[in-house]
Amino acid sequence: MHGERTPELVVDNAQHSDIIQSRVHDLLMSMGLDEKVGQMSQLQAGGGWIPDELADSIRRGQVGSVLNEPDVEVVNELQRIAVEESRLGIPLLVGRDVIHGYKTIFPIPLGQAASWNPTVVEAGARVSAEEAVRSGINWTFAPMIDITRDPRWGRIAESLGEDPYLCSELGSAMVRGFQGETLTASDSIAACAKHFAGYGAAEGGRDYNTANIPENEMRNVYLRPFKAAADAGVATFMSAFCDLNGVPATGNQWLMDQVLRQEWRYQGMVVSDWESIVEMSVHGFTHDDEQAAYEAAMAGIDMEMASSSYRDHLENMVDQGKISLEQIDRMVERILRLKFELGLFEQPYTDPSQHPELLNKSNLKAAKQAAMQSCVLLKNEHQTLPLLPAKLDAIALLGPLADDGFEQMGTWVFDGEACHSVTCLQAITELIGRTTEINYVKALETTRAASEDGFSEAIEAVTQSDAAVVVVGEEAFMSGEAHSRASIDLPGHQKALIEAAASTGKPVVVVIMAGRPLTIEPILEYADAVLYAWHPGTMGGPAIADLLFGLESPSGKLPVTFPKVVGQVPIHYAQKNTGRPATEETCIDINEVPPRAPQTSLGMTSFHLDAGFKPLFPFGFGLSYGRFQYVKITTSHHSIGLGQSLDVSADIVNMGSYAGEEVVQLYVRDLVGNVTRPIKELKGFRRIRLKPGERQRISFRLHTDDLAFFNRDMQLVTEPGQFHVWIGGSSDAPLWAEFEVHA
Ligand code: NOJ
Repeated sequence: MHGERTPELVVDNAQHSDIIQSRVHDLLMSMGLDEKVGQMSQLQAGGGWIPDELADSIRRGQVGSVLNEPDVEVVNELQRIAVEESRLGIPLLVGRDVIHGYKTIFPIPLGQAASWNPTVVEAGARVSAEEAVRSGINWTFAPMIDITRDPRWGRIAESLGEDPYLCSELGSAMVRGFQGETLTASDSIAACAKHFAGYGAAEGGRDYNTANIPENEMRNVYLRPFKAAADAGVATFMSAFCDLNGVPATGNQWLMDQVLRQEWRYQGMVVSDWESIVEMSVHGFTHDDEQAAYEAAMAGIDMEMASSSYRDHLENMVDQGKISLEQIDRMVERILRLKFELGLFEQPYTDPSQHPELLNKSNLKAAKQAAMQSCVLLKNEHQTLPLLPAKLDAIALLGPLADDGFEQMGTWVFDGEACHSVTCLQAITELIGRTTEINYVKALETTRAASEDGFSEAIEAVTQSDAAVVVVGEEAFMSGEAHSRASIDLPGHQKALIEAAASTGKPVVVVIMAGRPLTIEPILEYADAVLYAWHPGTMGGPAIADLLFGLESPSGKLPVTFPKVVGQVPIHYAQKNTGRPATEETCIDINEVPPRAPQTSLGMTSFHLDAGFKPLFPFGFGLSYGRFQYVKITTSHHSIGLGQSLDVSADIVNMGSYAGEEVVQLYVRDLVGNVTRPIKELKGFRRIRLKPGERQRISFRLHTDDLAFFNRDMQLVTEPGQFHVWIGGSSDAPLWAEFEVHA
């Protein structure tokens, strides 16, 4: 039963799609307008039961999809009503936010992005799909591929970071993972590229806020991951909540029609976000629900999530000739096509016993692997890490997140359960508890707590131990939808706890679990080592334990820049140069300026008096127990013509005494452009493993198409000229070369 949902349809792709097309056509011919509009409505399910009104609506053919029903028996009953009791027997799309796992919770997407490993990300989505289908879910609202450069925004947790190339690679991997080889397979679910588009640029990082993004930047940055997802065959798109350049995305014809349908030729279905159609009136873009439904339909939103403006108004508008029947047909066609592609007409029901167990060994192993590769080692003074159990009689384990199975799962977890999480305390006890004493003191009730009552016990525990591991960060609720923060400091008195541990003189290792980059500069002086674990999910504890005690070396790299202070935001590596770029020499430090300093021309460059111009940690940064050195960068050609390729290569040597994985990164700068170009852009990356002393030559092939960008006329072009190219272990890598592209 794990094969195709439609055994009779095992034919080649083109034939398959022709067959589906004709089935969609036949079905459409038999539908009344009310039934067509019904397909365009997605309703909230009861969550464990079936409200009479919902059952009646399904019976009358007024519902195309439900969301938020995880009980498989209820889902089967809903499908039965749709298939057996409605006139046309059209099965339902069953949607749910399966964002980073179903029961087996993987690291938050931002954490997964820190793995820079498409294979790991794809595996996570695969496991999520395999678990979700057991509940009859056939559609997830993921991946979220909004580029965001603002760590205040709560939804950064759900994103894949700041960079369009990384986000495109990993977002496409997630699509492949959810959708499997074919949507028809009984363990595949439809993915959804969201939120189209610009949502990640919400002003001030306040959720749902306005985004103003010039078209050129829209195309060069924000739209790129969506184009990649469309090319990867993502089945659906979701419109964003936000106002984009004065027109809410949900009613934005330029975005939804011109770009998505006409330029990209996207054939899949588009769903609104939750009530985002009727919210266009709240935005002040439409007068009422009727006008909102009109604008959304004209833009090409095929299905309305949660609200009822389509059900209430579309039929009338067609009768009045405001919206053509052909347009409605096109929208309904896309919905029906997806249902056929998913094989729902052949097999609308789910038998969980036909699918692998939830939380099975291999799923947990995949979650642990993802968590391990997500952790980013930010500091490791005097090689404090790895801790060597043989040299430790006792360790102190402190902090509000050291033993909290719930918080370590992070935001957007509907179905995961704390009881399945393995915490740091459990995992460390399991790993070294037989030989090393573990002195655990929570010390702070929550990450926000201000009471230091537990500190003396914590200090005592550290004093009795050879080292301290302090697990701090943000609770799950502090990131995610509508959970933005204006200060991104470590909350509560956690810094004081780290200081207290350090006051003992013992080595202090800080593990941080959070949904975003936090401004952690103030704790760095008290921590000998810092491991950033994001919210690592169900298997966070074992992954962290293996890294802390050297069973594996950390290999995550930051998918987003870490600011020193929140006032630097937005700060990202792919900035423009400006007319006055700052350098170490031109930067003034506010503390070094004498009283009554005269205004001079010194320092007239782009920086903050109180923060300089550099971030705390750059994009792509992450240490390892291995020590990787980059040497001998070469390009295969000094000059190439348009349409040609060149190879850029460098040697990477592990000078350390531990084996480890390194993410080798390739960056390019186009020196002069018809529109100004970023000072660096990621163009490739590769994960390699090197033993101590091992050397490997890594080559990246760059085609001139890889250098293309949207110019002032919004044409995608590669311009002849000079380029700089870097290979290294972060966006701050020093090893560079140059080449030319000639006409
Ligand atoms: C609103 C969120 O913005 C969206 O991402 C999510 O998929 C829907 N709600 C459904 O829960």
